[in-house]
Amino acid sequence: MDEEGSEDAWLERWRHVLDAGRGSPVLELGCGDGRDARFLTERGFPVIATDFSEKALEITRRRAPAAKTQNVDLTRGLPFPNESFEVILASLSLHYFSWRQTTGILADVRRCLRPGGHLLARLNSTKDPHYRVAERQPIENNYYVVEGMPRRLFDRRDLEALFQQGWQILAAEEHTTQRYGGQKLAWEVAARKVMRIQVNSKATERGPRFVQTVDSRFRGNDGSGSCDARPQSKSTTVQTDQEPTVASDPSTPPDKRGRQAERADKAP
Ligand SMILES: C[S@@+](CC[C@H](N)C(=O)[O-])C[C@H]1O[C@@H](n2cnc3c(N)ncnc32)[C@H](O)[C@@H]1O
Repeated sequence: MDEEGSEDAWLERWRHVLDAGRGSPVLELGCGDGRDARFLTERGFPVIATDFSEKALEITRRRAPAAKTQNVDLTRGLPFPNESFEVILASLSLHYFSWRQTTGILADVRRCLRPGGHLLARLNSTKDPHYRVAERQPIENNYYVVEGMPRRLFDRRDLEALFQQGWQILAAEEHTTQRYGGQKLAWEVAARKVMRIQVNSKATERGPRFVQTVDSRFRGNDGSGSCDARPQSKSTTVQTDQEPTVASDPSTPPDKRGRQAERADKAP
């Protein structure tokens, strides 16, 4: 794990999101050595810190005594009711899984968020120098056995695929942080749960239409990753036609999407 005691205040950037979500505890997934749990509890945020490692939970209890801890294995589903959190945090803990598992975990995270709630996540970047030099055996696209453990590295296309349905990406930027005695490049992602509401049940040939409600206080999400997530203006509504198709099913790995999307475009 990383250097004990070192400060890593990446969450400071998301203080406005955390403050807006003070109505419920922050759920942390894969808390590790508890540095984010400590950052949050020291600032008065109630935290439920989870991990599947008892050792990690023990360290977190010592480091952030005000945090509640709970043993949760992300591959077994989140043991929390629907819509119970305003903010869910996952720092460098979502990269151990196959694409199917990763999309399943994301769907479960979304289920546990209140409408308009946020996921704040850090995800390994494909450009991370820490992994560039490591010996890798490919399992899936961007998913390797590295030093005996499966690990996923994410590129922008992966992020767009992961957050394609039911999310609005507020920011997705690569940032350098100090880890494992060196520099680590990771995506910092802030994504907001948006609701899809069926507005026309008289299906068109291509299926029903949906409205995706987007709060444009967080406008600037052009997918370029350079958007500013600070509150700006009033609400807007975006019409979408995003019924799930094979090509847009998030469980379809991004490397298989190009040709499926092409076929879907050509379909009558
Ligand atoms: C690299 S550490 C990150 C720790 C911390 N969030 C941070 O940013 O420093 C990844 C953590 O994810 C946890 N983890 C890995 N697989 C998990 C799973 N299936 N369920 C829950 N936690 C898991 C590990 O035990 C570890 O504590």
